[in-house]
Amino acid sequence: MERFAQLAAQSLNTVLESPVQWTDLEIPPEPQLGDFAFPCFKLAKQLKKSPPQIAQALLNQLKEKGTLPPGIEAHTVGPYLNFTVSQQLVLQSLLKDILTGEDRGHYGSLPATTRGTWVLEYSSPNVAKPLNIYHLRPTALGAALDRIGRYRGYRVISINHLGDWGKQYGMLTVAFRVFGKTVDSQLSMLDLVDLYVKINALAENDPKIGEEAKEAFVRLEKGDPEITALWQKCVDISLREFDRNYARLGVHFDHIWGESHYKSQLQPMLENLKSRGILVESEGAWIVPVTDEAGQELPPCLLQKSDGATIYATRDVAAALYRFEKFHFDRMTYIVGAEQRLHFKQVFGVLKRMGLDWVDRCEHIPFGLYRFKDAKMSTRKGNFVTLDEVLAQAKERVKTLMMERQIERQKDQPQAESTTTSRESLEDISEAVAVGAVVFHDLHTDPIRDVEFDLERVVDFEGETGPYLQYAHTRCLSILRKAQATGQAGDKIEFSPALTAHLNTEIELRLVKTLGQFPIHLERTLKFSKASQLAHYLIEVTQLFGAFYRECHVLGQSRELTQARLMLVEATRRIIGQGLQLLGIPLPEKM
Ligand code: ARG
Repeated sequence: MERFAQLAAQSLNTVLESPVQWTDLEIPPEPQLGDFAFPCFKLAKQLKKSPPQIAQALLNQLKEKGTLPPGIEAHTVGPYLNFTVSQQLVLQSLLKDILTGEDRGHYGSLPATTRGTWVLEYSSPNVAKPLNIYHLRPTALGAALDRIGRYRGYRVISINHLGDWGKQYGMLTVAFRVFGKTVDSQLSMLDLVDLYVKINALAENDPKIGEEAKEAFVRLEKGDPEITALWQKCVDISLREFDRNYARLGVHFDHIWGESHYKSQLQPMLENLKSRGILVESEGAWIVPVTDEAGQELPPCLLQKSDGATIYATRDVAAALYRFEKFHFDRMTYIVGAEQRLHFKQVFGVLKRMGLDWVDRCEHIPFGLYRFKDAKMSTRKGNFVTLDEVLAQAKERVKTLMMERQIERQKDQPQAESTTTSRESLEDISEAVAVGAVVFHDLHTDPIRDVEFDLERVVDFEGETGPYLQYAHTRCLSILRKAQATGQAGDKIEFSPALTAHLNTEIELRLVKTLGQFPIHLERTLKFSKASQLAHYLIEVTQLFGAFYRECHVLGQSRELTQARLMLVEATRRIIGQGLQLLGIPLPEKM
């Protein structure tokens, strides 16, 4: 449908003063209203006419000029000018595109690196602390945007900005001394947490500890080999742990550049800013007066404390400069919690103050928290629930559900296919479904809203859940398998123009059109940095597929009708499968 939206926008542009992009077209709420809608409100305001008048005038002009592409019809719906793609185009061209893999087998993908450079920073946990469920938000969203960005032709550079620098790491090295640990000690992530908690408790009553931590951090900044080795050990232990989690989620980064990565750039940058009068002294500390995008004054951005130490913001300014120098990005996105809104406004304010106009290419995408229905979890101190813990609980629940389903199914039809395969054990499938459920639930929630976590609902096989989509995908596979086993289909479902004549119910046409919207939703996901856009779309596809499957029998019809409908099953399988893969949801073969 993307191509048709582009054609509609092109024809529209023959009668508009200022051109629109195809992405400016909306999808009408009801399919019978048309496939794309151009809202006329803005234009009406400019021309001081009513929106319906504008819509009608545009329609007349389009007809006069004759610039509507063949197969696309236009009509007005109140204040909108709507476009409808003909059945012929939908079945012959759209279905073909989805099935023949004109785009290298991936419908809606664009050739690699045709679209500019996108620096995408996500996940960015702190060293010496296990991944909290809360870290799933930037990790899952970032990784989804990363995959979708690449799929849509961006040169994506993904960066994990680990929190690995600052006085707290000086504190950790003091804990090594106090509790008799060395670089050679066998330590786990939990040991690090334990050391950190214990040393902080001591520091509360002993100011000398804090002093020593400060000194240790100064030594670390100067590159003292002994302290550096201890710090490196903490980073390594943490990374090993993070990598295990990332592997489970299928997440990879181009660069793991923690805050420490910029350490040698901090002093020269501060000197430069001071010499230019951008960084000014205030009560012994050094600050930059900043404003937001609208020119409103913000609290100044502190870059150097009175004891000479740099802070979190200093590293962020240096990181932005470094990344622009290296990548000349067209867009840079930070996926970081909503509580850091002011921080990013200040950092962007500093860049603006430095006269760097590329600051307009930088954006902060904030996200909300996790809330648990389970009282035990929601009252934990600091809401500290690890990702591992949540996944483990989800997995247990999936196993129980799967076993129940298996028993039910065998009761109904003793010959039913087993839910496991020789390649996938119950263990593998439960892992895939648990990860899929938890990740989908997170992504399905608009980033800025809090995630309401209720395990039963998250893992439910029905409802707007990951397992519901994964199950729909396995169902498509099972229909295709059955068709092959009974000789109703060959090894591959191929597009056949002649067969499309058999697809003539309303639901079938609607299913193809909706499948064809896939690229449009990918594009919107990128535009708004919201994976929930794609997640909701996939739910819509799956519900529609359910309706199709209820209304239209696939197997056991006339050979042509069965073959024609199998094309729809295969097209649906491709879109749901591709969509889930892009979101980072594993695809079990059976469930
Ligand atoms: N490590 C930080 C935290 O856990 C998030 C870092 C976000 N990224 C950045 N460029 N400041 O809160």
